Amino acid sequence: VGGGALSGKHVIVTAGPTHEPIDPVRYIANRSSGRQGFEIAGALAAIGAEVTLVAGPVALPTPAGVRRVDVETALEMAEAVEQALPADAAVMVAAVADWRAEPSATKIKKGGDGAPPPLRLVENPDILAGLAAAKKRPGLVVGFAAETNDVLDHATAKRARKGCDWIVANDVSGDVMGGSDNTVHLVTDAGVESWERLPKPMVAARLAQRIAEALGGLKT
Ligand code: C5P
Repeated sequence: VGGGALSGKHVIVTAGPTHEPIDPVRYIANRSSGRQGFEIAGALAAIGAEVTLVAGPVALPTPAGVRRVDVETALEMAEAVEQALPADAAVMVAAVADWRAEPSATKIKKGGDGAPPPLRLVENPDILAGLAAAKKRPGLVVGFAAETNDVLDHATAKRARKGCDWIVANDVSGDVMGGSDNTVHLVTDAGVESWERLPKPMVAARLAQRIAEALGGLKT
């Protein structure tokens, strides 16, 4: 028991959307299904990693062997990631909301004058960039970049801007969000590797294998 290329390694994975409340009954969200992140968490666990999966609100079962921490908001996700440190690697797959509202304590009512209520937004922390700059930075920090156009240019720029080691660039121009397949490009310091269109579990397995190689865990 406990064998596998990643045994003894702790990997943090974020997955899913975040929900940012506007008032007690409403929130801002996005279309992330969490599927790719959950597959990655499961694939890492399957080759022996100790996985902490910080999951936004999704309706998905917890992959075998994974420790799951459920959160709602970006601030909660940031806190849960911090709590999960130290880690050997982190894979940030979550579609974190860029902004949050300052929620009203009571349900916002329709005004008599027909004017919509103002929605003041504040920027959320960038969890990936924060982790890449953290004192307890994991040795390998991987980000995702969902793009609809100029995928590689955006991904390469994002890798530099966020200070992460790898970016998995994700072409979401088709039916990727919520769909079963994914077309990705792995951007590292060595350049770009384009993978063929694959089912999400196979993207996950291949990425887990690459992480094992990078962490030098191939011998077990
Ligand atoms: O900036 P953008 O959202 O395109 O970057 C995507 C990458 O950054 C993903 O890995 C995502 O999980 C991460 N991210 C984050 N915290 C944010 C925004 C994005 O960790 N607030």
